[in-house]
Amino acid sequence: MNYKKFFSDELISLKSQGLYRKFRAINRNKTSFPKATERFEGNEREVEVWCSNDYLNLSQHPEVTKTSVQVINELGTGSGGTRNISGTSTYHVDLEQLLADLHRKEAALLFPSAYTANQSTLWTLCKNLEGVEVFSDELNHASLIQGIKNANVECHVFRHNDTEHLEELLKTANANTPKIIVFESLYSMEGLRSPLQKIIELAKRYDALTYLDEVHSVGLYGPEGRGITAEKGLEEDIDIINGTLSKSFGQMGGYVAANSDIIDYIRSFAPGFIFTSSMNPSIAAASITSIKIAMQSEHLRDNIRHNSDRIRSGLRDLEIPFLENDSHIIPIHLYDPRLCKGAANLLIEKHGIYIQPVFHPTVPKGDERFRVTITPRHEASDIDHFLNALDDVWKSMDLKRAEPTQAEKKAVSRIY
Ligand SMILES: Cc1ncc(COP(=O)(O)O)c(C=O)c1O
Repeated sequence: MNYKKFFSDELISLKSQGLYRKFRAINRNKTSFPKATERFEGNEREVEVWCSNDYLNLSQHPEVTKTSVQVINELGTGSGGTRNISGTSTYHVDLEQLLADLHRKEAALLFPSAYTANQSTLWTLCKNLEGVEVFSDELNHASLIQGIKNANVECHVFRHNDTEHLEELLKTANANTPKIIVFESLYSMEGLRSPLQKIIELAKRYDALTYLDEVHSVGLYGPEGRGITAEKGLEEDIDIINGTLSKSFGQMGGYVAANSDIIDYIRSFAPGFIFTSSMNPSIAAASITSIKIAMQSEHLRDNIRHNSDRIRSGLRDLEIPFLENDSHIIPIHLYDPRLCKGAANLLIEKHGIYIQPVFHPTVPKGDERFRVTITPRHEASDIDHFLNALDDVWKSMDLKRAEPTQAEKKAVSRIY
């Protein structure tokens, strides 16, 4: 086989569809965020970031960075191994306890990322629960899908947030087999919540385990930022909660929280936990500081809510179509990768606004969009600048102002 030709042909095809991704090298300035410095064609230019998942900006909080540096100075950088072999520091143990408390669960287990946590936990459950049938929301994140797919078990995909469809599928399942319902509390690309209560009722009726990804909700919703499950008072009814340290908490790593037997089982059997080095102790320590700050930061959550509403109101006034929701994620659909890329280029080149176009495979082909997120460091003047820049780009490119028709929305094929 001509391997070189295979890879280069695939890339040519990707480029011809307008789906080739380019990364922008952006250094987010600690003192002046959302300002950042982009290295561009050998030079530097100042940009303003409008797509960060460092939602509360805790990665740059002075107490968090101080903890990180302190622990590096005390313990060094790397962890020294897997959790089994010299990679468990007091910081890892204390962080797991804090995460368990955060979700009102008996225990928690750290992974290098929420991606690995999802993939490895679901794979382990699916491989070992004999005859298991999985029920998975069609917009579930790739990490959830990979965990299920790799285990090669029976998986029923239910229409996004459609509990009637979920129940239809549950009815067809063998009453005696184990079942897992896999879903998210807040969908990352749409910013829409799931019908938690209803899904829990179905799980109870059909004796299914519930596996919930709270990656985009933890830190931002519920009392002390304990997530949407906590906001609804449903912690006891969700069997396994997955979360990340890399978004609201501004660090890196992921985890699952559940009862102590489930966690001990995953700890003992999940390859993605057992066979990989643990996170650096400084990251675990900084996560502890960060979570404690997040728990006390209702004012930051209020700020995000207020400013997200302000952006939505501005978009409505400008008649720039976006997906209505009540979350911190504001999707502006362009339904075309080239338009999306063109608008993103114009925004950065003319206005210094950095917003990454979102393409396949993150979203289905034809459903390309911007995913706007704001942090407490964005000021009112930044919002005005952002809205004016969007307005100008919409004018320059003659982009659609009105909502897409139902037919246009339906034309978007769901690949998951
Ligand atoms: C819904 C969802 N789950 C899991 C992940 C993975 O998180 P991490 O970056 O910690 O691997 C992401 C990443 O964006 C996500 O959007």
